[in-house]
Amino acid sequence: MATVTLVDVEKIYPGDVKAVENFNLVIEDGEFIVLVGPSGCGKSTTLRMIAGLEEITDGEISIGDLVVNHVSPKDRDIAMVFQNYALYPHMSVRENMEFGLKLRKYPKAEIETRINDAAQVLGLTDLLHRKPRALSGGQRQRVAVGRAIVRQPAVFLFDEPLSNLDAKLRVQMRVELSQLHNEIDTTMIYVTHDQVEAMTMGDRIVVMNEGLIQQVADPVTLYDRPVNKFVASFIGTPPMNFFNGQVLGQNSSMAFLSEDGLQLQIAQQQVDKLRQFDKQKIVLGIRPEHIGSTVAENSETVGQISAVVNVVEPMGAETYVYLKSETTSFVSRVSSHKKYMVGEKIELAVAMDRAHFFDFNTDKALL
Ligand SMILES: Nc1ncnc2c1ncn2[C@@H]1O[C@H](COP(=O)(O)OP(=O)(O)OP(=O)(O)O)[C@@H](O)[C@H]1O
Ligand SMILES: [Mg+2]
Repeated sequence: MATVTLVDVEKIYPGDVKAVENFNLVIEDGEFIVLVGPSGCGKSTTLRMIAGLEEITDGEISIGDLVVNHVSPKDRDIAMVFQNYALYPHMSVRENMEFGLKLRKYPKAEIETRINDAAQVLGLTDLLHRKPRALSGGQRQRVAVGRAIVRQPAVFLFDEPLSNLDAKLRVQMRVELSQLHNEIDTTMIYVTHDQVEAMTMGDRIVVMNEGLIQQVADPVTLYDRPVNKFVASFIGTPPMNFFNGQVLGQNSSMAFLSEDGLQLQIAQQQVDKLRQFDKQKIVLGIRPEHIGSTVAENSETVGQISAVVNVVEPMGAETYVYLKSETTSFVSRVSSHKKYMVGEKIELAVAMDRAHFFDFNTDKALL
């Protein structure tokens, strides 16, 4: 087990491609940390630099107390699981799992014990003699994880390990990996572009965009207090709605006036902080669950919007309703008990005490 520390880490690929910049992070011993962000944001590059598969252009990476900048991957006490599993097709499950240990000349009895223990944990005991081609996707994924576990590394690195699985299996493996982490309590660094995977698995989540860390926080903080518009829109399904406009003050009250003429009263607890932005261009952010017909019951400050139903997406437990008001489009997440018709004009309540505000120019959260 070990902490992993990255100080001012930077990766510039030939051709001046800045893949990762100014990356500072301390990953605690035993922590499950998730790197999440859109394609090309530098997640894999970061992971590969920790693994030693990619040289770093600048900065310092430590595993435990050891600076590993110049330590080769095999001496870093890490094990990595890749998206494509990278199993040896001609070897059985057992041979795949013991390969790394044999290479490191572990005693036979020790190898045996480790394989049997890992197989037990992962439900692979009955499959040890099979070749990878005779396994399902989920089973192959478990073998890839098993091969990492038997090494008993200080740090596990996962790069999108579930993205080749179908949706149902992905959910199942997600739960299994979380359980595994609870059992073995080893530092895990997990890369995904799937925000649901990030939210459900991570003790803390690192949101990245264009090579830069945007925010590091636990899932609830990330959802409730995004530091900028990027994080606000990346985390949450459907994403947060944004309205461009300005806040206007009048005595002790303030209102938000959108470019489309939408007018909403600012919640009293936010008035003081917003006063300094009087008449300035700002962006209002409202999560889909804070617009609807039922928000009124648990919200103190309620605004009203009238809008026309554009698209209705029933999800089962809830329904996403896409709406249009003048030229503004937004989405509301409502209980599936209530039925909406396309083309219908409806009045919606907005829980303004849950509103987010962002600087129009910098995208930074204002509150
Ligand atoms: N070997 C390379 N040479 C040049 N540029 C590279 C190389 N590898 C990656 N890049 C670039 O570095 C940036 C970050 O790539 P990286 O693979 O880390 O992204 P990622 O976040 O893992 O994306 P994905 O979700 O698509 O896997 C991208 O712009 C990519 O094109
Ligand atoms: Mg990647």
